[in-house]
Amino acid sequence: MAQYDVVIIGGGPGGYNAAIRAGQLGLKAACVEKRVTLGGTCLNVGCIPSKAMLHASEMYELAKKDFAGFGIKATVELDLPQMLKQKSDTVTQLTKGIEFLFKKNKADWIKGTGRLDGPGRVVVTAEDGSEQVLEAKNIVIATGSEPSKLPGVEVDQQRIVDSTGALALPEVPGHMVVIGAGIIGLELGSVWRRLGAKVTVVEFLDRTIPGADAEVATAFQRALTKQGMVFKLGQKVTGAKLNKSGKTTTGVTLSFEPVKGGPAETLDADVVLLAVGRRPNTAGLNLESVGITPDARGFIDTDHFKTKVPGIWALGDVTHGPMLAHKAEDEAVACIELIAGKAGHVNYDVIPGVVYTWPEVAWVGKTEDELKAAGVAYKSGKFPFAANSRAKANHDTEGFVKVLADAVTDRILGVHMIGPQVGEMIGEYCVAMEMGAASEDVARTCHPHPTRSEALRQAAMGVEGWTMQA
Ligand code: NAI
Repeated sequence: MAQYDVVIIGGGPGGYNAAIRAGQLGLKAACVEKRVTLGGTCLNVGCIPSKAMLHASEMYELAKKDFAGFGIKATVELDLPQMLKQKSDTVTQLTKGIEFLFKKNKADWIKGTGRLDGPGRVVVTAEDGSEQVLEAKNIVIATGSEPSKLPGVEVDQQRIVDSTGALALPEVPGHMVVIGAGIIGLELGSVWRRLGAKVTVVEFLDRTIPGADAEVATAFQRALTKQGMVFKLGQKVTGAKLNKSGKTTTGVTLSFEPVKGGPAETLDADVVLLAVGRRPNTAGLNLESVGITPDARGFIDTDHFKTKVPGIWALGDVTHGPMLAHKAEDEAVACIELIAGKAGHVNYDVIPGVVYTWPEVAWVGKTEDELKAAGVAYKSGKFPFAANSRAKANHDTEGFVKVLADAVTDRILGVHMIGPQVGEMIGEYCVAMEMGAASEDVARTCHPHPTRSEALRQAAMGVEGWTMQA
C-alpha cells in the first residue's frame, strides 16, 4: 500500500498547487485526479480556454471595427475551427506544464477518482475499474465545483450549454440567450457577441456581476449594452423547451417572469447558456466514512483549512468564499505550509476579482456598499481613463479607477476599476493593500509615463483631493 505525507484529492488550481508546494517542502505527496489532464476546471474548461477565446474574439472585433480608425485597411474573416484549435492547443500546453511541475517537485499524479475510506485512507478507482488504496498522514480535499443546475433548464451541451459547452460551439449562434449576468455569462456572452451572435442576458437580480462595486457594475452594463448586448434584469427563468422539426432540434424557447410579479415572457434562442453559479463537488467523496457532513449547499466547513477531523483538510471551491482559482491557489500554499509546520496564512481582504471582458472589470477589497453597511467612514478618489494620455493614444478611453481609503488612517480599503486591461493592473493595489499602504503611498509613488497605470496614481491622489490631470 502506497504511503504518503499528504494525499490531495483534485488536480485543479487548489490541488495542483498544493502538490507542488508539498513537493517543494520535502513532503511525499500524491494528487488524485480523474480527468485525462491535470489543471481542473480552470485549465481545461474554465479560466484558460475562456481567456483564449476572449483574446481571439477581441482581436477579431478590433480588426473588424477599429483597425480602420488606426489607419489600417484589412479584410477580416472568422475561422472558427482555428480559433477553437488555438484555444485547445493552449490548454494542452498548460496542462502538460503541470505534469512537468509535478515531476520536477516529485509529486505523484494518481490517475482516477478518489474517495475517503476512513481516516488516513483514500481509495482511487481507475478508469478500468481497478482500485488502489493510498495511506496518508494528511488528506486535502480540493475537488472544486461544477456548474449549478436550474430546474426546467436541462443542459444538453448542444442547444442548452453550460460554460463547458459554450467554449466549444461548432458555429456562431444567431441568437444566444444567457441565463445569469455573472462573470461566466458576461465573459462567454461577450465572446459569442463579438463573433456575430445577438446576445440577450436574462438575470434574476436588478444588476450585473453581484459582488462587484455597484457603480462599476452600472458602468459595465452600460458599456456592454453599447456593444449590443441586451439585458433583461429582475427576471426569473422558469423553463427552457427544445423546439423540434421532425427529429432535428431547431432552437430553444426560454420562459421567464419578472421577479416582482407581472406577465411572463418567452425568448427564442439558437443556444441558451446557463451560468447561474457553481456548486461544490462534495458528492461521492464518502465523507461519511470520516464523519464530515457538508452544509446544505454542499460546502465543507473549515477553520484554517482544517475540517473537524484531524488530518483532513479542505480548500478551494469546496469551502466557503469566492470560487476563484487564485483564492484556491493561495489556500493551497497556506494549507500545505500549515501541514509542514509552518505559518500558512491567507489574507481574505486581498483577493482580487477580474472580469476579462472589454472593458475589463477588476477590484480588490471592500465595495462602497460594504463599507457603508459596516459603518466605516471612507474617502474616495476617482480618475477616468478619458483623461489618461496612453488610453487616448490607444483609442481606449472607457472606464475609471476608484480608490476607497479609511477617512481617518488613509489605509486603502478597496479599489474598483473598469477599463481596458485593468485586470493586469489590479496587482499593484493588491501589493499595496497587503503592505497596509495608505492611498498617499500610491499617490506619491512614481509611475511610468505614458501608461494606463498613471490612472491608478491619479485616483489615489484624488482621495486627498489633489488629482492633477483631470
Ligand atoms: P455568478 O454567481 O457570478 O453569477 C450567476 C448569476 O446568475 C447571478 O447574477 C445570479 O443572480 C443569476 N441567477 C441565478 N439564478 C437565476 C435565475 N433563475 N434566472 C436568472 N438569473 C439567475 O456565477 P457564474 O457567472 O456562473 O460563475 C460561477 C463562479 O465562477 C463564480 O464564483 C465566478 O466568480 C467564477 N468565475 C470566475 C471567473 C473569473 O475570475 N474571471 C470566470 C468565470 C467564473
